[in-house]
Amino acid sequence: MEIIGIDIGFGFTKATSSRESLVFKSVLGEATEIQFQEHLLVDGGGDDHLQLEVDGKAYFIGELAERQSNVRFFTLDQAQFISSSAKALALTAAARLVGSHLPINLVTGLPIGHYRQHKDELARLLQGEHKVALVDGAGKRQEKTLNINKVRVIPQPFGSLFNAMLNDLGEVGDKRLVKEKIGIIDVGFRTSDYTISDKMRYSERGSRTTDSGIARAFTVIATKLRENSGVNVELYRLFEAVDRGAIKIRGKEYELKALTDQVFGQLAAAIANEVDRLWADDWDMDAMVITGGGGAVLAKYLQPLLKGHVLPIDPAKDARLYNVQGYWKFGKHIWAKGVVPSPT
Ligand SMILES: Nc1ncnc2c1ncn2[C@@H]1O[C@H](COP(=O)(O)OP(=O)(O)OP(=O)(O)O)[C@@H](O)[C@H]1O
Ligand SMILES: [Mg+2]
Repeated sequence: MEIIGIDIGFGFTKATSSRESLVFKSVLGEATEIQFQEHLLVDGGGDDHLQLEVDGKAYFIGELAERQSNVRFFTLDQAQFISSSAKALALTAAARLVGSHLPINLVTGLPIGHYRQHKDELARLLQGEHKVALVDGAGKRQEKTLNINKVRVIPQPFGSLFNAMLNDLGEVGDKRLVKEKIGIIDVGFRTSDYTISDKMRYSERGSRTTDSGIARAFTVIATKLRENSGVNVELYRLFEAVDRGAIKIRGKEYELKALTDQVFGQLAAAIANEVDRLWADDWDMDAMVITGGGGAVLAKYLQPLLKGHVLPIDPAKDARLYNVQGYWKFGKHIWAKGVVPSPT
């Protein structure tokens, strides 16, 4: 039995097994015939070709879809996201991580605000036997039967809490977190998720999903770029540009640092405000955790605005993976207790 965690975010799909983690953009597109091999030079690496066939359809996934698909399904609507993209994204991750026919136990998550409404639907989509084929950059098909035995769906930000609380064997490592009242702020691409764990009990009152994700700041940047360049830059094409501090459009370089500082500052203020209001009665909180890929980029703006003790974020780690690593540890906790991990 193989335990895996998959976090299907609006921005990125993240997945973890006992051996490795992977991240790709949650962009799905129609597979097209590529007449000429992509890498023009040999050192281009060959690992970024994600192509999957499932239910009679062929998809390009992630950056490949971004570069090569004429028709792309990229949505920021939760119901649509689950019905159109979640299954193909999750099965791509599973096919990359697990061999054919091995029974898989899967932990995945949903934003707090959509948890109750969609959790059974998501579990139903993923559970069972799936015949898929991975196609590599050279066009070679590898057929696989994915046997998803059990599916557990948990509220997304709990992944980060389990990640901090459990060790790689799924045992409670940090006992303090179990006894304390912890607020979790998970800033993603599309959503911000807030939740409270009070001695490991979930607080409904302190939990909410809002649309204060990084996409809101990116929308402001994209609007400015459209005004200045006439080009409509899709939001998911802004990650690298914002990180680099500049973008080149039709040969012209546009500086983004000052604007990014401004819009990230505004987004952080909006999030701090939501936290203040949502947790107004929770002044007895012991600590707050900032998580998610958006949490990592906003931390320096957000931390000074939060009232209370904030657990430091480790800049050496990829914060996009915190939830999914917690899903995996939680999977170990519920399914592999007492089982000695195999040496492979
Ligand atoms: N190495 C990186 N590459 C790209 N984006 C990164 C990186 N590190 C942090 N980020 C930030 O992470 C954000 C995405 O975070 P994350 O993967 O947690 O979101 P998500 O889970 O896909 O979204 P949501 O929770 O709304 O569904 C991006 O908007 C970007 O600002
Ligand atoms: Mg997320």
